[in-house]
Amino acid sequence: MNRPLDTARLQPAEAFADYLKNTAARIDAGAEALALRDGARVGISRPHESAHLHVAGAAAYIDDLPELAGTLHCALGLSPVAHGRLLGLSLDAIRAMPGVVAVLTAEDIPGTNDCGSIIHDDPILCSGEIRYVGQPLFAVVAETRDAARRAAAQARAAATIEAAEPVLTPQQAHARGQYVLPPMHLERSTHEGGARRAIERAPHRLKSTFDVGGQEQFYLEGQISYAIPKEGGAMHVHCSTQHPSEMQHLVAHALGLHAHAVHVECRRMGGGFGGKESQSALFACVAAVAANRLRRPVKLRLDRDDDFMVTGRRHCFWYEYEVGYDSEGRILGAEISMVSRAGHSADLSGPVMTRALCHFDNAYWLPDVSMHGYSGKTNTQSNTAFRGFGGPQGAIAIENIIDSIARELGRDPLDVRRINFYGKDERNVTPYGQVVTDNIVHELVAQLEASSDYRARREAVAAFNATSPVLKRGIALAPLKFGISFNVKHFNQAGALVHVYNDGSILVNHGGTEMGQGLNTKVAQVVAHELGVGFERVRVTATDTTKVANTSATAASTGADLNGKAAQDAARQIRERLAACAAARHGGDAAAVRFANDKVEVNGRSLGFDTVVAEAYLDRVQLWSDGFYATPGLSWDKDRMHGRPFYYYAYGAAVSEVVVDTLTGEWKLLRADILHDAGKSLNPAVDIGQVEGAFIQGMGWLTTEELVWHPQSGKLTTHAPSTYKIPTANDCPPVFNVRLFEGPNFEDSIHRSKAVGEPPLLLPFSVFFAIRDAVSAAGGHRTCPPLRAPATSESILRAIESVQAAPA
Ligand code: MTE
Ligand code: MOS
Repeated sequence: MNRPLDTARLQPAEAFADYLKNTAARIDAGAEALALRDGARVGISRPHESAHLHVAGAAAYIDDLPELAGTLHCALGLSPVAHGRLLGLSLDAIRAMPGVVAVLTAEDIPGTNDCGSIIHDDPILCSGEIRYVGQPLFAVVAETRDAARRAAAQARAAATIEAAEPVLTPQQAHARGQYVLPPMHLERSTHEGGARRAIERAPHRLKSTFDVGGQEQFYLEGQISYAIPKEGGAMHVHCSTQHPSEMQHLVAHALGLHAHAVHVECRRMGGGFGGKESQSALFACVAAVAANRLRRPVKLRLDRDDDFMVTGRRHCFWYEYEVGYDSEGRILGAEISMVSRAGHSADLSGPVMTRALCHFDNAYWLPDVSMHGYSGKTNTQSNTAFRGFGGPQGAIAIENIIDSIARELGRDPLDVRRINFYGKDERNVTPYGQVVTDNIVHELVAQLEASSDYRARREAVAAFNATSPVLKRGIALAPLKFGISFNVKHFNQAGALVHVYNDGSILVNHGGTEMGQGLNTKVAQVVAHELGVGFERVRVTATDTTKVANTSATAASTGADLNGKAAQDAARQIRERLAACAAARHGGDAAAVRFANDKVEVNGRSLGFDTVVAEAYLDRVQLWSDGFYATPGLSWDKDRMHGRPFYYYAYGAAVSEVVVDTLTGEWKLLRADILHDAGKSLNPAVDIGQVEGAFIQGMGWLTTEELVWHPQSGKLTTHAPSTYKIPTANDCPPVFNVRLFEGPNFEDSIHRSKAVGEPPLLLPFSVFFAIRDAVSAAGGHRTCPPLRAPATSESILRAIESVQAAPA
């Protein structure tokens, strides 16, 4: 569609207009007006760049792309067995089924049969060793998706398998010393004898275990790839992925091609949440292998149940710990072992465990600490990134410990949290050696404590519980500190490509991917701001490996930090060239040329941006530019687990109040108050959306979302929304006060903003600990509730039984 610029934007649907109104009402209108008056394009609330398309059903996802003539459809035949050997596949019957064009196995892969992201231990199709129920054994390519699925469903009959005993839980794997990568150790001693000695000499000790479940990403758009063969053996893959460059490399390896022969493109994902960082690869590779073999376009779109069965998710963690503390609850020494369920291959389990170990401290000074991380190899799907990337699993362990210490001492958990906070000038070095120079947790928590009326409500909760035998209330405040950057230094780079066309319109490409988080909106804002133009001039297009090379995954919340800076760099170069050209034509100093509100002020004259661009074109000035950014100041010694892995920290805190029915285990979130640090937010509306979304998503992880593998067969039994319960709009609390903390990033991030994608996933810890508080109340606060996460109704009831049975 070719429309003039000013009418290019569709009218937002009514529901969306309402949404905007409500969101805008929650954002400080004063600050917004001020920002607008200055002609700023950052720091203001803008709707998501595709919001009008999302609500109108006009945003194209990969399955919406018009199919090319001759397109075939692919489906995967899955292993019905968790562990063993594939002795043979009899595929003749499947090949003879209606519509089937080809059935491919590992032997049909022309290059390497591997789609592992870091460690190459991840077969695309099974080549002998059966590793989990759901492992792809073969791929059916057929005229229709339905025909392909019907044929692939015959896997059980086709496969001859010699079954072996599966290892399913992290504890089993740990007991056998069976890991996907070597154990990791992170220790710090500030006193002689380290953590062990500190614990032994402490006035109080606590030794226990804890366990937290995994979580399915449940992106609304499932995994999908559409591969189109190109001339000369090249391949074009439309892939729903957070990591187009890695898809490019893995497809190239599978096909035995160089990277330049593979083109990967992704306009947007219908959610990724970490699940499409590495795990999109298997589908991209299978679709590409099939398309390469048949020289026809091949689409592979997974059914939801298959998506659950084939792909991994957030790692569940099991912890064993001992801490020593003083009579005020100050932690003196801590030892912890964390064991994750990595699944059958390494995938991103290493980085996830690294981040878990680097977030065990959360907001707390732990003088003597000894941490050990084991990524247990199990006969289950290979677990992967999920919002927070192990950070939530690390931090919830210390929060559980602090909550327990408070209960043991009979103190308010907030007081024990506070007494352990990192200091400003001392007690401010993390266990991995990074100095916390931007600590705002004290101010932030104090503000939230006041605005949420925490103390008065704590008393009200106690008063309620005193007269309510069945319903019990609980309240908790949980803080967070989250490190921003990839631990692996070289991932912290990004590129961008900005074109200014000679009609004054602007096209932006960058290495990040859009998964709903608003990255393209923010990058467009940055470019509009840099060139002093209105948003309607700027269009951000699909992430494309032919435009920006060697990109990092859009992950670790670094998307806007990295790509925003790269796009700013590109736009700034164009602006400088335009300024030089305008000054040459109209006189005056190029450095004094100003760009704002679609006007260019040069030598006392005000020219339209269009005019200046048109003049520059005639003067043969390059109107497009690349841009690049590499985060400064990072260092990481992977073996010692020491250095400065994070450019800065994001902070936040939440207070949640719940009511629990002690007879049924049902509960409700009554109110949540959130204060979150997004630095000087690029777009408060988008950031508040991220905070609210992460809060509700994390609440699901810690409460209703439970994964159950059959203890004998190893089959994931919770593989659909019928058995796996994610939160819905109804689970939002009736009172939900969400605010952004006012304060810039101390570091020179893009316009002093902070990353916001993942950190708020830790905010719903407050929900879990509020439930724990209510359970504790059910036992008269006599003993610490053995509540595991997810705190399902069953888990709550079990914990209530236990606290009520405890001796008086
Ligand atoms: N928000 C939406 N709507 N959809 C998503 O898939 N993924 C999250 C977060 N917010 C996600 C999301 C995850 S896991 C990450 S790492 C960040 O967005 C990535 O984007 P960013 O770096 O641009 O914040
Ligand atoms: Mo996010 S888990 O880093 O993709």
